Amino acid sequence: MGFITQWIRDRLPISGDQLREWTNEPVPNHLKRWWFCLGGTPAYLFVVQIATGILLAFYYKPAPTTAYESIRYITDEARFGWYIRGLHKWAATLMIAAVILHQMRVYFTGAYRKPREINWMVGMCLLLCTLLTGFTGYSLVYEQLSYWGATVGANITDTVPVIGGFLKEMLLGGEAYNDRTLSRFFIIHGAVLPVAMIALLVVHITLIRLQGVTEFRFSDEPEDQPDHFNFFPDHFYTELIIGLILMILLSALATILPAQLGPPADPLTTPEIIKPEWFFYVAFRWLKLFSGTVAVLTTGLIVFVMFVWPFIDAWFRRRTRASEASVWIGIAAVLLIIGLTVWEAAVAH
Ligand code: HEM
Repeated sequence: MGFITQWIRDRLPISGDQLREWTNEPVPNHLKRWWFCLGGTPAYLFVVQIATGILLAFYYKPAPTTAYESIRYITDEARFGWYIRGLHKWAATLMIAAVILHQMRVYFTGAYRKPREINWMVGMCLLLCTLLTGFTGYSLVYEQLSYWGATVGANITDTVPVIGGFLKEMLLGGEAYNDRTLSRFFIIHGAVLPVAMIALLVVHITLIRLQGVTEFRFSDEPEDQPDHFNFFPDHFYTELIIGLILMILLSALATILPAQLGPPADPLTTPEIIKPEWFFYVAFRWLKLFSGTVAVLTTGLIVFVMFVWPFIDAWFRRRTRASEASVWIGIAAVLLIIGLTVWEAAVAH
């Protein structure tokens, strides 16, 4: 044993103490609460997505004539294919929900304020990448609803002023959905977006390490209690337990509510009801409420305001007395998002 340790040490000049020092950041006590360490949940689910996505990619064939059949094969015939597909689908759903909850936690605790404005903007890029990965992933199935969802998505892109036509062509690999579209979606879904997310996550976590997380102290904590604990092993175990619970939850969901396969895409028959996945309900309802270009421009404006929110908030706090206005604006925004989502879910058109 001593020989092996020495052999490794001769080649990797890092001591156990150094390793402990690098990984062992003192973490503030409030990170014992799941609400405050929610960022670890999408990180964990992202790893699940990479692992299950690679397994699915072994079988998936991205062309209109083969895509649907390859997913049917994964679901019905490949060994444990239904399970891997179910895990991938449910982890995607939970990851989107977890990213939204994490962003809400950061927002309502004001953790985006100086000096963390840049990390908020990196987070916004992560949110957009997560949503786009969900959209392109759903389109790969090539069932009737996912095909028409992708077509509607591309047509909405077309209404973006000036660059819309170009963006639509880049997305579809032509003026309309064609033989090359699915392989393009596949590369965007399985390579471009995940690589972009890994790069963004490296920046996100590096900034968290450099700045530390925002310090909070709660009134119910006794004064004499130490206000920090060690990342390793304490926080590591917390994350491990959350990871195990998530794996049990994912397995249960994949088994009880397995990923389904609707009728195959028929490019000649427009279905009566076209709906995107639940996380786009809010945008879809917004698009139905306003005409094409107005809806797209207002959506762009809302996303821009979200991006630069830490600076708008700082201006508010400097210039007005409404220093906590962000909380009320946040509550109104959350209620509006829930309202539009429920509305879209409840009606056929
Ligand atoms: C794939 C998506 C994401 C992952 C994996 C992730 C991961 C993390 C982790 C592990 C933390 C440490 C503290 C915690 O767990 O809350 C964190 C903090 C933070 N995240 Fe994220 N995040 C993601 C998306 C976002 C989004 C969408 C935003 C906002 C737009 C955001 C903004 C922030 C900020 C500002 C902090 C610092 C919080 C503080 O100082 O208390 N992140 N993130």
